[in-house]
Amino acid sequence: MSTIVVAIDGPSGSGKSSTSRGVADRLGLRYLDTGAQFRAITWWLLREGVDIHDPEAVAARVGEAEIESGTDPLAPTITADGEDVSVAIRSEAVNAAVSPVSAVPEVRTRLLQLQREAIGEGGIVVEGRDIGSVVAPDAQVKVYLSADPEARAVRRALEEGGSDVSATQESLLARDRIDSSRTTAPLTMAEGAVHIDTTMFTLDEVIDQVVALVEAVEAVE
Ligand code: DC
Repeated sequence: MSTIVVAIDGPSGSGKSSTSRGVADRLGLRYLDTGAQFRAITWWLLREGVDIHDPEAVAARVGEAEIESGTDPLAPTITADGEDVSVAIRSEAVNAAVSPVSAVPEVRTRLLQLQREAIGEGGIVVEGRDIGSVVAPDAQVKVYLSADPEARAVRRALEEGGSDVSATQESLLARDRIDSSRTTAPLTMAEGAVHIDTTMFTLDEVIDQVVALVEAVEAVE
């Protein structure tokens, strides 16, 4: 069984999810979407009526949420207290609240534990913002995906069923600003990461590039 860990970081709409799932599927690896975990915690806090702009209130309650992620790249699942929240975590309310929640250190500590458990002995593609830098600094393959803001907004708007591109771009850039400037585990290009600007590539071309990186590492090991 493969013990490889592939860390894929980057901002929203850079192609992380589609690329990570495609790479995991092609190589027979598991897949973990850490953004979905932050979204599920956020969904849970909103449901509980916690003031997400009060970091102390968030920190006090975060340990109560039961979050579970499935790791099949073809059918990733996410539950909060046993409830399937895979659709609910993509709502506008969660989009607007997830970055401030993710900046709370206690939220990150709690999810870090779940993420390390899921990674286990490896054989997994993990996507997020701090995977190569904090969650799996020893990952054998680290990739940082980026794309022009316009391209990212168009992709995200399409994923969200054709929502307004300029509004999508605004909300995406607002999240980027918080995610990149927070004190704990900000979005950053990890040391040793390969940077792929996906703006001009098709999804398959990006998957090919990442698969080639993994195969190069596996050939050496
Ligand atoms: O990848 P995404 O858009 O679903 O992520 C949602 C939010 O979760 C993102 O705005 C920041 C946060 N996040 C994080 O802080 N660290 C991660 N490893 C993954 C996501």
